[in-house]
Amino acid sequence: MKMTRFAQRFSKKTGILELMDDLGQAMDGRTEMRMLGGGNPAHIPEVNEVWRRRMREILANGAEFEETLANYDTPQGKHAFLESLANLFNKEFGWNITSKNVAVTNGSQTAFFLLLNLLSGTRVDGGMNRVLFPLCPEYIGYADQSVEEGALVSLPASIELTRKNFFKYHVDFDNLHIGPDISALCVSRPTNPTGNVLTDEEVRHLTSIAGRNDIPLIIDNAYGAPFPNILFKDVKPYWDDHVILTMSLSKLGLPSVRTGIVVADEAVIEAVSACNAVISLASGTVGQVLVRPLIDSGDILRLSHEVIQPFYKERSILAVESMQEAFGEDIPYRLHEAEGALFLWLWLPELPITSAQLYERLKDRGVLVVSGHYFFYGLDDPWDHADQCLRLSYAQDPVKFKEAALIMADEVRRVMDEKAGGRWR
Ligand SMILES: Cc1ncc(COP(=O)(O)O)c(C=O)c1O
Repeated sequence: MKMTRFAQRFSKKTGILELMDDLGQAMDGRTEMRMLGGGNPAHIPEVNEVWRRRMREILANGAEFEETLANYDTPQGKHAFLESLANLFNKEFGWNITSKNVAVTNGSQTAFFLLLNLLSGTRVDGGMNRVLFPLCPEYIGYADQSVEEGALVSLPASIELTRKNFFKYHVDFDNLHIGPDISALCVSRPTNPTGNVLTDEEVRHLTSIAGRNDIPLIIDNAYGAPFPNILFKDVKPYWDDHVILTMSLSKLGLPSVRTGIVVADEAVIEAVSACNAVISLASGTVGQVLVRPLIDSGDILRLSHEVIQPFYKERSILAVESMQEAFGEDIPYRLHEAEGALFLWLWLPELPITSAQLYERLKDRGVLVVSGHYFFYGLDDPWDHADQCLRLSYAQDPVKFKEAALIMADEVRRVMDEKAGGRWR
């Protein structure tokens, strides 16, 4: 086969491919793994009961059943779903949007493929557009999405040492320069991989920079409010004409319905819908029909606030405790402040091997994590911090997490000992 550039770029071994392969194998139950990799949401019985009930209602109601499976929607999404979402955002946050400001895609991953390629790459005037991620490390899933090479760039975060064994990343505004090639800013909030939540002040600062430069700020709200609300800080999502907000039904517990949501200026929504028609004809309907009545009744807010948020908050506390117990006083380590999403971000500042090597050694011992280096893409200069971090999901069983923490700590002690010729302990 004569390889195209596209084939070369999109069929190579990427971090997201490794992560999804590991995840798929671990979740199909055939391999015995402590699954701290991937971003699969937890199976929360009370939430699954809601989907079961909705499925039964759909099956019992002939018209709704056909509506769910037997029709294509418009490339923008199902009109009733778009209306319901616009109403919810207006009611909850006082925004002033209509269904023309909302589009649905087959998962928010697909929304990012469209948005990142609408905004980055060669311009019609021949110049180059680049999307800037101002808080690196940033979500692994953006890293390989641009069709053109060199179209995604990142700014290293600044590090605040918050308390013993903890830290927090911030946007390094002193070094945030918007050159003529920068066509958009993009952040996830809460942040995958770190569990960071950009402060309201940081978001205000970023939106004012975007506004001044007349470029959009993309805010990926996959874990944020109003759903699934995996947020442990009291912050609200922000939207204005310069903001492209993305959301997803995945972390509500519905990753396989592949439903992503874009809230943006009408021109952006028209462009996303046009691309969706070319690439997918339309997006899947199942998630939209399943969830719409919960949006209309407000049950989605109750579910997110009263069930999903407390569930992950508790898992996050247990995960931090397990790490503290396992890593003790001897291993030099820091955890990112756990402010949302479903991950702990572990920094091992004195790790004598790379995080990718540690990932392999942990996998051999039945612990799946994600090596941190994948989240540091688009940087101008190498950063040794990039080889010192691991992302750990705490969505699965806390007992398994605890076992995994003990194995991780043991393996790190072994590595430190090996490198110190047995003299570290
Ligand atoms: C920050 C972030 N954005 C986007 C996605 C994509 O999710 P989906 O395509 O399932 O909506 C994920 C998935 O883990 C994510 O963590």
